[in-house]
Amino acid sequence: MENRNYSTVAIVLHWTIALVILGQIASGLYMHNLPNTSSIKFDMFQLHKSFGLSVLALSLLRLAWRFTHKPPTLPVAMPGWQKLAARMTHIGFYVLMIATPLAGLAMVSVSPLDIPTKLFGVVPVPHFPLLGIEDREGAEDILKEVHEYLAFGILGLLALHVGAALKHGLINRDGVLRSMSPAKAGLGIGLIFAAFGVGVAAYFSASAPTPPTVVFETVVEAVPTPEFVAPVPIEAAPVADEPASAITPSEVLELPVAAPDGAAVPVSNDNETDIVETIWIVDTAASQLVFIGEEKGRAFKGAFGGFQATINFDPNNLEASTIRVDVATVGLSTSDQLRDSTIPGKEWFHVKEYPTASFTSTAIRNVGGDAYEADGVLQIKTYEHPITLAFTLIIDGDNANASGAVDLIRTNYGLGLGSGWIDDEDVALNVRVEFEINATRKG
Ligand code: HEM
Repeated sequence: MENRNYSTVAIVLHWTIALVILGQIASGLYMHNLPNTSSIKFDMFQLHKSFGLSVLALSLLRLAWRFTHKPPTLPVAMPGWQKLAARMTHIGFYVLMIATPLAGLAMVSVSPLDIPTKLFGVVPVPHFPLLGIEDREGAEDILKEVHEYLAFGILGLLALHVGAALKHGLINRDGVLRSMSPAKAGLGIGLIFAAFGVGVAAYFSASAPTPPTVVFETVVEAVPTPEFVAPVPIEAAPVADEPASAITPSEVLELPVAAPDGAAVPVSNDNETDIVETIWIVDTAASQLVFIGEEKGRAFKGAFGGFQATINFDPNNLEASTIRVDVATVGLSTSDQLRDSTIPGKEWFHVKEYPTASFTSTAIRNVGGDAYEADGVLQIKTYEHPITLAFTLIIDGDNANASGAVDLIRTNYGLGLGSGWIDDEDVALNVRVEFEINATRKG
């Protein structure tokens, strides 16, 4: 007997793929024109990638079904050239339904932004290998064009396909249009879209902020509790007698930054020893370390994933005092999803390889009253540069409050290496790091 209708599976896949592709073309064109500052742009890109990969999977399934299940025969009265045109259009659809998502995946694989692809924010999808491509931005531009033209190719075929289907249904009335009627496939299509709904919900719950994976613990070393030694005021410098609580966060942000070789006043070190026994335990919950950058002329503030400081500090023995701060670059956040997904990438902090950055002091000096400077080396990734941290330190009994700031040139540390970032057109080269640390004397 003549096979007049497509199977239910073929119909479910046909209409599901058609609807998702239409959504993909609409969402693709819409998101392409969104400004980077748009709060929905990042999510739209991620969901577009997820739905696009679903089209790829469903199309491969449809192709496998097509090879194993015979489609209905075309009407005998249909002219040969029309049968050939129908065949070519169907083959063209299969090619484009597979090539368009693959071109999209290739585009995000070469993108210098290195934003990972996760199906609905949950299942990681590997990117294509770079195969030695060096101009990633150039390759991304080409693939963007390819992806766009392939998608427009689908639209072109769709015009032919819908035109032919309507002719069969309205003029020839030969049952071809009815053979793909979605009437008996409503349940299957509904179930697949319900699964997409679950996927979208999973995406939004998975993209909620996650805690950093680098966890610092305070290490308490077993050394004798030292006697409290009041800071030694240097000659002619006013002695600050304000309590630590007098420092407010806003004052912290206004702190001056030391000139690298500023007018440092070395402290006299008559009873100098090689070992400083005054160890300070940092209260990380009551301390903060932030950075302030500027993108497209707008300042933004960022927080690191966490930090740990090892402070052996005695104002009477600055020569032997040391400060080391380890900062988690993993979990860095600036309250902007697009930026936060870019910063961990290779061209910025490359957190996969280098999850921490560190500052190690080489010399600490008092520059008047409660003001100090610590020379040291800041290491981010494999880049090391000397910096001078200017800070104010107020010791009140067993409590200490230190606050300060330093200005850095990000490219000295290999931050923002791609051709889109290397100059200050989009992102300012200067980044200011500010900190306020509260610590208690160990004992
Ligand atoms: C059948 C599936 C797909 C269709 C029909 C489709 C269609 C489109 C269209 C029409 C655009 C707008 C093109 C432009 O104006 O530049 C677009 C953009 C985009 N697509 Fe797809 N897409 C599909 C699958 C995918 C997949 C699987 C991915 C990645 C895994 C992807 C990634 C992207 C990206 C990143 C853009 C934005 C390009 C930009 O504006 O920067 N697409 N897509």
